[in-house]
Amino acid sequence: MARITAGVTTSHVPAIGAAFDRGEEKSDYWAPLFEGYEWSKKWISEEAPDVVVLVYNDHASAFSLEMIPTFAIGCADTFAVADEGFGARPVPDVVGHPELACHMAQSLILDEFDMTVINQMDVDHGLTVPLSLMFGKVDAWPVKVIPIAVNVVQYPPPTGERCFKLGEAIRRAVESYEEDLNVQVWGTGGMSHQLQGPRAGLINQPFDHAFLENMNNNPQALRSITHLEYLREAGSEGIELVMWLIMRGALGERCAELHRFYHVPASNTAVGHLILEAPKSEGPA
Ligand code: DHB
Ligand code: FE
Repeated sequence: MARITAGVTTSHVPAIGAAFDRGEEKSDYWAPLFEGYEWSKKWISEEAPDVVVLVYNDHASAFSLEMIPTFAIGCADTFAVADEGFGARPVPDVVGHPELACHMAQSLILDEFDMTVINQMDVDHGLTVPLSLMFGKVDAWPVKVIPIAVNVVQYPPPTGERCFKLGEAIRRAVESYEEDLNVQVWGTGGMSHQLQGPRAGLINQPFDHAFLENMNNNPQALRSITHLEYLREAGSEGIELVMWLIMRGALGERCAELHRFYHVPASNTAVGHLILEAPKSEGPA
């Protein structure tokens, strides 16, 4: 049986990708940020997951105002790295797991989550920056990736509660797949940031710290945060945090926090990073 063994959350700031691609990880500005992922890189090389279900948002790279699915699942063999205006990042293409992804699509849709099925898609910094942070420089990503794209760009995004429940359904989907696979779920984006309007540059450290704390110890408190609260407290792009709740919903009740990192700022964003271990013996959600 496939099992969800752990969850990872991390911000996805594009400037992190640019710094990484230019080899600036040790510069004065970037070193404190990249140091926060050293433990994580060692941990994941020991965990060696087979598949990452990577929850992220597209930033008008694969989708546009013409078409924006609320929830989409990538079922392709491979996903090319998107050109976001400066050429594609020099990182490997992302290899999918179409068999598990198609099984998940069926399970999720029959479980009343109407996923959009994507058979061809380029993936942008929302997905590739988390991979670079966790795996460093590689010739090929050492894991298969099932992208789950969430609309947090165009109003109305899904609620945090809906996202949490999608996480629970992802767990049921993964745990009903027969092959023995070590699966992680990642929730990316966040933390507080606002890129536009009069409040551009907003960062709310007390809100972020409370969010990090509650992810493991009191996720119930996070489920009811409204769009208006995200907007007011975490800024317009802070809404990306609903994607963390998909990861949390997939992990089950009693997790162990293995690693926590918080750094301000990276570009315009408060960077938060968590690694949670799933309970070893809990049954399906
Ligand atoms: C920044 C952060 C984001 O989440 C994003 O998608 C684009 C830019 C930033 O901090 O610059
Ligand atoms: Fe973003």
